[in-house]
Amino acid sequence: METTLIFLKPDAVQRGLIGSIVGRFEAKGLTFVGMKLMNVPKDLAEKHYAEHQGKPFYDGLIAFVTSSPVFVMAIRGVNAVAVCRTLIGATNGQKADPGTIRGDFGMSGGYNMIHGSDSLESAERELALWFDDGELATIDKTL
Ligand code: CMP
Repeated sequence: METTLIFLKPDAVQRGLIGSIVGRFEAKGLTFVGMKLMNVPKDLAEKHYAEHQGKPFYDGLIAFVTSSPVFVMAIRGVNAVAVCRTLIGATNGQKADPGTIRGDFGMSGGYNMIHGSDSLESAERELALWFDDGELATIDKTL
């Protein structure tokens, strides 16, 4: 069983897509163990995207994710990291497959609506950044 960190970026929240996107993870059979709407402090955005520091899009990315609220989720399931990345689709909405979240809802590479941890190691690091100790629910789903 894995837990992964997903957040809906300001564009998805402002476009009123929270319900549509959350519904896809729920329908897939994944379990939510954390959920919250929050403004992102700049230092959290910088820690989260540390690997992109120095890239041409970095400053714009930090400005974007701190511009208005994001919707953060901790999602649990068997192979949840890879399953969520498959549901999300390729980075650029123009290239993402139809049926994926980015493929169905977006046209942009920067304003790409959603983040999902790219490995179990990233998920552990990101969950610790976005959720406090004891904040996640301890649900054991048996279905
Ligand atoms: P995310 O999955 O959150 O991880 C890094 C983010 O950087 C990515 O989604 C995009 O929002 C952004 N990003 C990646 N490549 C580019 C790019 N070429 N131009 C602008 N933003 C980018």
